[in-house]
This record gives sequence, C-alpha cells and structure tokens, in this order.
Amino acid sequence: MNANDENYVLGYGGGAMDWMKSRTVEEHGAFLLPYLKPGQSLLDCGCGPGSLTVGFAQILNPGQVVGIDRETEQLAAAKAYANQHNLNNLHFETGDVYDLPFDDACFDVVFCSAVLGSVSKPEQVVREMVRVLKQDGVIAMKEFDHGGDIVYPQTPKLTHSIELYQRIRTEHGHEQRAGRRLREWLTKNNCSIEHTHASFDQRTTNTGLYDYIDRNNRLVDEILATRYIELGWATREDLDTHALEWERFARDPASLHASAWIDAVARKNTPTTE
Ligand SMILES: C[S@@+](CC[C@H](N)C(=O)[O-])C[C@H]1O[C@@H](n2cnc3c(N)ncnc32)[C@H](O)[C@@H]1O
Repeated sequence: MNANDENYVLGYGGGAMDWMKSRTVEEHGAFLLPYLKPGQSLLDCGCGPGSLTVGFAQILNPGQVVGIDRETEQLAAAKAYANQHNLNNLHFETGDVYDLPFDDACFDVVFCSAVLGSVSKPEQVVREMVRVLKQDGVIAMKEFDHGGDIVYPQTPKLTHSIELYQRIRTEHGHEQRAGRRLREWLTKNNCSIEHTHASFDQRTTNTGLYDYIDRNNRLVDEILATRYIELGWATREDLDTHALEWERFARDPASLHASAWIDAVARKNTPTTE
C-alpha cells in the first residue's frame, strides 16, 4: 500500500485547508511540549499546510525539522507559511507516509496529527514512523475519534449529514475511531506508552461554532457533495437542506458541538541484549 493507491477523503479545498491552518502547537500540540528540547530533530508526517511544523521548528531551533506530505499543494501552502517565519532549520518534502524517504533511526521525534484516521492502513504507517525514529526517541500522535463526538441537539437532517460523512470514510477503509486505537498501534510496534489523553475540541462561542460549521459546509460543497451525489447516497436538495440545518444549529445558542481527540506519546524500545 502506498499513497497512490488510496484517496484522501477530505481533499484540498479552502474549507479543509482553513481548518488545518488554524492548528497551533501551543493548543493542538501542547501534549508534546514537555518532551521537546532545542536541538532535537523532528519529522512531521502528513504535515498539511504546516502550521504545526512551523511551530515545532521555532521550539526546536537549531534542531532540524522536516514536514512531509503527499500533496504538493499542501506543501506550497506550508512553504509560504514557513517563509513568513524566517526559519533556517525547516524544510518540506513531498513524500508518502507508507514509505518515508529517510534512513532507519534518524529522527529524535516523529509526529503526526489527523493522518492515521485518513489512511487505510494506519498500523503500517505507525510501523514506518517507528522505523525512522532513533532508539528511545519520542513518537507522538493526535487523532480524532468520531465515536466520541457530541452534537446536540442532533436533528434527523444532521444525523443524515453525519452518516454520509462517516459512510464515505468507511468506503475508503478509514478508521472512524482512530483515536482509541493509538495505544494499540504503538504497543504493537515496539513502543512503550508514556502518555495518553482524551479531550474535546469544543467550539465555545457561537462565532467559533459558526466558523467551524461554515468550514464544514464548504468542505462538503467543494469536495464531498459530488461524490455523495455520484454514489446515489444523497441529492443536491438533501445537501442544501443539510447545509441550512447546520447553519441553523450554529446560530442556536443552545447548541453544543464537540469533537473527540486522543493524543499519545511513546518511546521506541531499545533492543534487549541476550
Ligand atoms: C487532515 S490533514 C492533517 C494535516 C496536519 N497534520 C494537521 O494536523 O493540521 C491530513 C494530511 O495527511 C496527508 N496524507 C494523507 N495520506 C498521506 C500519505 N499516504 N502520505 C503523505 N501524506 C498523506 C494529506 O495530504 C493531508 O495533508
């Protein structure tokens, strides 16, 4: 399995990109900060538009930081963002997380965020991440877990919209509940867990919720709608109704939307000598 054999469901429209660009190390990557020291090298697998990668490069400077992603458009956005920060310890490369273009045991820290739930063989990706990690190095990951999301009040139209999204991910062989499996994938791949934590990414203001819903509606409109219609799962009218229902949900001060995430940090075990 490699990147050419599977589709990335979210695509690269403005909605998806805005979503990822909003992530910062201080918030989204905070769980890893206690393990980071200037001078360490770090690989960010599936770095997307690079907001986290740039944050890591600032913290680890002069340690070398590399972001890799299969998608050149993502990397162009990442490079443009990095250029605004004047860093000379950071570069981005096109690459496949199933087949990382690096020697064994060459990074102090290997990281990924929101990638293992977007590939069809996540355990294989973890094995590859561990391969390029030094002995006793730190592997860190953060993944959503759709089994824990809270949407309230969840009307039948919202339920239908959520089901379509989950169905297309399942169709691509993606794990909806990647977060809860991080410990399993790490322990199966010769790592000892040092930390795991479950949290919710909750939109606490109505403006925050409205922006989030607007990004999701754009993501469906730009990328997913055509697929849903082609597959005969929904009509254009269904999708327009869903978008309006989500907007109504976002305007209602009683609404709650919280996405479940799990983060994990582990170390690569040193081989035992007989
Ligand atoms: C949801 S985005 C996450 C981006 C970033 N890590 C973040 O958290 O903001 C997932 C990224 O993984 C990348 N990706 C998916 N499959 C990949 C593969 N096989 N090899 C390299 N990158 C991949 C996609 O191109 C996309 O940029």
